[in-house]
Amino acid sequence: MTITIKAPLDMHLHLRDAEMLKVVAPLSAQTFSNAIIMPNLVPPVTTIEALKEYKQRIMSAIGNEKFEPLMTLFFRNDYTYDFLKEAKKYISAIKLYPSGATTNSEGGVTSMDIESLRETFEAMSELEIPLCVHGETNGFVMDREAEFGSVYEQFASNFPKLKIIMEHITTKNSVDLLEKYDNLYATITLQHLFITLDDVAGGMLKPHLFCKPIAKRYEDREALLKVALSGHPKVMFGSDSAPHPTHKKECCGCAAGVFTAPIALQALAGLFEKNNVLENLQSFVSNNAQKIYSFKPLEKNIVLEKTPFKVPNSYGDVVPMFAGEELAWSIKF
Ligand code: DOR
Ligand code: ZN
Repeated sequence: MTITIKAPLDMHLHLRDAEMLKVVAPLSAQTFSNAIIMPNLVPPVTTIEALKEYKQRIMSAIGNEKFEPLMTLFFRNDYTYDFLKEAKKYISAIKLYPSGATTNSEGGVTSMDIESLRETFEAMSELEIPLCVHGETNGFVMDREAEFGSVYEQFASNFPKLKIIMEHITTKNSVDLLEKYDNLYATITLQHLFITLDDVAGGMLKPHLFCKPIAKRYEDREALLKVALSGHPKVMFGSDSAPHPTHKKECCGCAAGVFTAPIALQALAGLFEKNNVLENLQSFVSNNAQKIYSFKPLEKNIVLEKTPFKVPNSYGDVVPMFAGEELAWSIKF
């Protein structure tokens, strides 16, 4: 059995820089046609010049693969209308991080007060630049995303023309918000469709499954599965594939991030098949995102076949999700 996915898209991807970029970028470029590239480098991508240079480094890292990185800027509330008008030529979205919420987010926003964000949000609305948000407060780790729900509601109701993408949602609460506001959308990762907190910390601690937001309860995963598997038009696949070298994961003070890019499509095919909805995979990994972001992806077909795929123990110095395990579907290269 085979299934062909037209233009698979990863709408939330960390490619990093330097040596790590050279290891991970070709892996995404082999299996996806386009991907939204996160700007949380050190320092973060906040200028058009830095953005162009980063895109250039990505293009050199992927060699001859047919792949287009969709670039983002790291949100700052002092971006002016004129700056954003120029930036719009080179970006697909702007990513807002609350300061300190996750890896390399120290330069993020320190207050979610609407007035301090108004000017930038209004300019983005007018210029039709989508806002991607890491939606977590600094509260209790299991409640951070649900607590951020009121911030999403304020953003959505005060800026009805702004497209707001709730990144890597992990809770039923966030799924419910999709129905409440026309201008709220969401990405869902691979890991949050497969695991709960039990898999991360319920038995032996699994550092390679530790990410932010942390995986939640069974009822949350059920809610995520329901919208993803149904091909809900406001929901897109965004891997949040976030590589860290092994010594940063298998240590005291484990970095947050799950590396899934090279195994994501294979695992998704298995998940959708198991639930008898393989026909909805195309919407989840491509069509919905094209409509939400209003763009045309590169033409590229990826053929998945039901042949076992043994996930490598590592890619370079990065351990992927399902390392050493066998998945039912593989990519026909
Ligand atoms: O687990 C995560 N890792 N969550 C994020 O939001 C950032 C990412 C990273 O950059 O490592
Ligand atoms: Zn991320």
